[in-house]
Amino acid sequence: MITLEGKRAVLTGAASGIGRATAELMAELGAAVVVADVDEAGAEVAAGIEKAGGRAAFVRTDVSRADDCARAVATAKDRFGGLDVLFNNAGIIRRSTVTEITDDDWDLVMAVNVRSVMLMSRFAVPLMEAAGGGSIINTGSGWGIQGGARAVSYCASKGAVVNMTRAMAIDHGASGIRVNCVCPGDTATGMLAEEARQLGEPAEAFYADAADRPLGRIGQPADIARMAAFLASDAAAFVSGAVIPVDGAGTA
Ligand code: NAI
Repeated sequence: MITLEGKRAVLTGAASGIGRATAELMAELGAAVVVADVDEAGAEVAAGIEKAGGRAAFVRTDVSRADDCARAVATAKDRFGGLDVLFNNAGIIRRSTVTEITDDDWDLVMAVNVRSVMLMSRFAVPLMEAAGGGSIINTGSGWGIQGGARAVSYCASKGAVVNMTRAMAIDHGASGIRVNCVCPGDTATGMLAEEARQLGEPAEAFYADAADRPLGRIGQPADIARMAAFLASDAAAFVSGAVIPVDGAGTA
């Protein structure tokens, strides 16, 4: 079994979906967690973790803003004494082609999905260096590896996250910092419902073919959380620069 006993983690987008499941699992495995999200519902996630006997703090964080990212990382130091794990997970999607997307939506997707990874890591790396190393886990997507329909900004952003992961792993390996990327396939979170809304389709459309997929279902947040927890742990001590699909053998 893996343990995260003694680890201090910051997780972005941890108010819901994959981020929430990962914060709860990491706390259960012994980590002190900072729940960073623009959604105030993150306060309830942190409260729930504390009620269950874990250690957690919520920081309202817009990951596209440098000052918010700095505050989220500083909270790990102030409340828990340092930082060992960063889960760059916050993300948004806009379902549009290059002829449909607005400049503002393009910039927003890039700011929330890509710039955030740079900003959070910029503040996290010095703390990890001070701790003698750490683990950064970025959230890509199957659509960061292959293309997907009407999601050009999202595909571009996740492709960037995939290759940023490899670059960061090279830059910071000598400091004992491992950097990896989890690439979920379709996973049952609010993001799928939001995609259906944007496309004007019923949410069930995204689940309709679930039984035909290789493992007979789409992903659950806990499926992704377990991979993130493994990558955060010392059990993954020689895993770095890896881009790991967690998609039940089907990304689309
Ligand atoms: P979700 O919508 O449940 O969670 C996303 C979280 O990010 C929310 O709590 C939201 O409040 C937060 N967020 C959005 N903008 C933010 C901002 N500016 N600052 C801080 N937080 C912000 O969706 P899900 O599925 O849990 O998404 C997590 C990650 O997984 C995302 O990066 C997403 O792109 C990725 N992913 C999800 C897939 C899926 O099928 N659900 C498939 C592949 C990747």
